[in-house]
Amino acid sequence: MTAAAIEIRSATKTYASGIEAIHAFGPSSLSVGPGEFISLVGPSGCGKSTLMLMIAGLLDCTSGEIDVGGHVVTAPETSIGIMFQDNTLVPWRTVRGNIELQIELRGLPVAQYRSTVDRLISSVKLDDFADRYPYELSGGMQQRAAFCQTLVHRPQVLLLDEPLGKLDAMTREAIRRDLQALWLADRPTVIFVTHSIEEAIQLSTRVCVISPRPGKIERVIDIDLPWPRDLAIKRSEKFSAYASKIEEIFHGYGVL
Ligand SMILES: Nc1ncnc2c1ncn2[C@@H]1O[C@H](COP(=O)(O)OP(=O)(O)OP(=O)(O)O)[C@@H](O)[C@H]1O
Ligand SMILES: [Mg+2]
Repeated sequence: MTAAAIEIRSATKTYASGIEAIHAFGPSSLSVGPGEFISLVGPSGCGKSTLMLMIAGLLDCTSGEIDVGGHVVTAPETSIGIMFQDNTLVPWRTVRGNIELQIELRGLPVAQYRSTVDRLISSVKLDDFADRYPYELSGGMQQRAAFCQTLVHRPQVLLLDEPLGKLDAMTREAIRRDLQALWLADRPTVIFVTHSIEEAIQLSTRVCVISPRPGKIERVIDIDLPWPRDLAIKRSEKFSAYASKIEEIFHGYGVL
């Protein structure tokens, strides 16, 4: 049996204590196989970001534990790639400089990553902007550059917390396509948070529906649709059936 890439075992998070305590997440368990693409969908405040931070080792579990790559997470996991809704570009470096910063921060040799940086910049169509500064880019272009930052050290595990949330619909669709192509080519293990049911179905091998706070992974839905998932598939009956199923679950929670 192949070891899980991520194993969440009865993880919970309670922020603060006493009368101030907020039970934010769990207990929940989930085993994620190598190369899976898992989406987390759930109402605002149900603990999705909390779970992502615990997987990344940026926040302790209150109880239970999480394994990444076969070991228990006890400190920040620098091997994984993380992307949050707000991008992390620094204003005083160009697109290329920002991407290389991720290599430098990890103490890796920048020269050995030159071709990877070029390939990534090209894959998100920023070739003409590689030497421009963030203020010279649109919001969508900044997010594309941040996407390259997340990927440059070739992480086996990607944690993406609403990375497309702030983008307009067209840019969002384009980056979604880039993300799917990249995932199909390299097959990293991905955990992806989104508020869009459609986006979750389009991208995922499985969609986890999280209940309102304290959030629990209550339903895990296998998405059995062919790859790549293009417009024709999004318009298919089977796709709509998955969307209706997930909407009904949210309706049951009283959040739709
Ligand atoms: N640092 C913190 N201290 C105290 N409470 C917190 C902290 N961070 C989050 N919370 C609480 O934990 C709960 C879950 O928050 P979290 O950010 O994980 O939700 P989320 O599912 O990511 O929501 P959204 O969809 O709005 O991003 C919320 O009730 C929030 O107020
Ligand atoms: Mg969040």
